[in-house]
Amino acid sequence: MREGAQPTADRLRATGVRATGLRAIVLGSAAGGGYPQWNCRCSVCALAWDGDARVRSRTQSSLAVSPDGREWALFNASPDLGAQIRATPVLHPRGRRDTGGRDTPIRAVVLTNGDVDHVAGLLTLREKAPLAVFATAETRAAVAANPLFGVLDPALVTWNEITPGQPFSPLAGLIVEPFTVPGKVPLYLEGASVEVGTETGSTIGLAVAAGGTRLAYVPGCAAVTPALVRRLAGADALLFDGTVFRDDEMLAEGVGTKTGRRMGHLPVGGTDGSLAALAGVAVGRKVFVHVNNTNPMLVDGSPERRAVETAGWTVAEDGLEIALPMRGAGEDTSSWPSPPASPRPTQPLPQSPSTSSPSTTTAR
Ligand code: MLT
Ligand code: MN
Ligand code: ZN
Repeated sequence: MREGAQPTADRLRATGVRATGLRAIVLGSAAGGGYPQWNCRCSVCALAWDGDARVRSRTQSSLAVSPDGREWALFNASPDLGAQIRATPVLHPRGRRDTGGRDTPIRAVVLTNGDVDHVAGLLTLREKAPLAVFATAETRAAVAANPLFGVLDPALVTWNEITPGQPFSPLAGLIVEPFTVPGKVPLYLEGASVEVGTETGSTIGLAVAAGGTRLAYVPGCAAVTPALVRRLAGADALLFDGTVFRDDEMLAEGVGTKTGRRMGHLPVGGTDGSLAALAGVAVGRKVFVHVNNTNPMLVDGSPERRAVETAGWTVAEDGLEIALPMRGAGEDTSSWPSPPASPRPTQPLPQSPSTSSPSTTTAR
């Protein structure tokens, strides 16, 4: 274990709540713009506009996570958050007389970057509910530079600075360790030239532990490094950047001038894409999130969908729920989220279907 990282079990005990496992609901499975995108008739969007049964609409990128099904943290807050809450019964308000009928199960938001599709939903959460927001100094500064976010009442919304490599607890029973991944600054902060692939607090992934289970969330990532492979190995579930299938997909569709990599997103396919780079990594369940509207893996039965499914991946839909039942006493996560010092072997995890297999359902 790295210096400074306490055993997760101790941290869980310190939160005063025994976790019952981990539930994660994909609130929005699409990248910025959603699917279909409002102004797009690329060949993939056209299917949705035309009502083709092989595709389903998707909202913008966000995940809800809970250790007990009662209190929830959002990982990113998308511009579609209002609709996502309405579509997700566990996130509906629970009126209480002592709070004047307003009480939400959403207690926290953790941001992985400052992109519009990940922060604009904070504005939806402005209406006088206590909320803890967790962000790196870089992402906090990006948001704070925009006076619009001043509508979040500082008396109710607290900002908590998180540091890559330092675990924190956004909710009782939930431990999260942020880690840097290759990325870039948000689009609206790009200058004349932009460095893509740097590892700073501008783009992070989240390693989550609750009830002895582990989930990793990496919705934006420009490259798979050996350190990232070590970090992800052993997770019960991985939700990973599925923005584009081909690096030049947007150019080929005639709807953009940037490659996926230039936007900070490693492609899924190809000899150096994420499918290949993560093929040997032992993870219980692999799910692509943050899928761009041009990505042909959105289409049931397409060659690209078949390729990802054959490789053991799922393309997330809105409402996809990953339920990881508590394992053992819920305290066997002492080497997680912190990565081991040397690479772990990449044999598959021992799985016991009754206690440790993630179950996956589509909740809506
Ligand atoms: C991205 O994921 O690259 C961004 O969300 C792009 C954007 O800001 O629209
Ligand atoms: Mn995005
Ligand atoms: Zn499109």
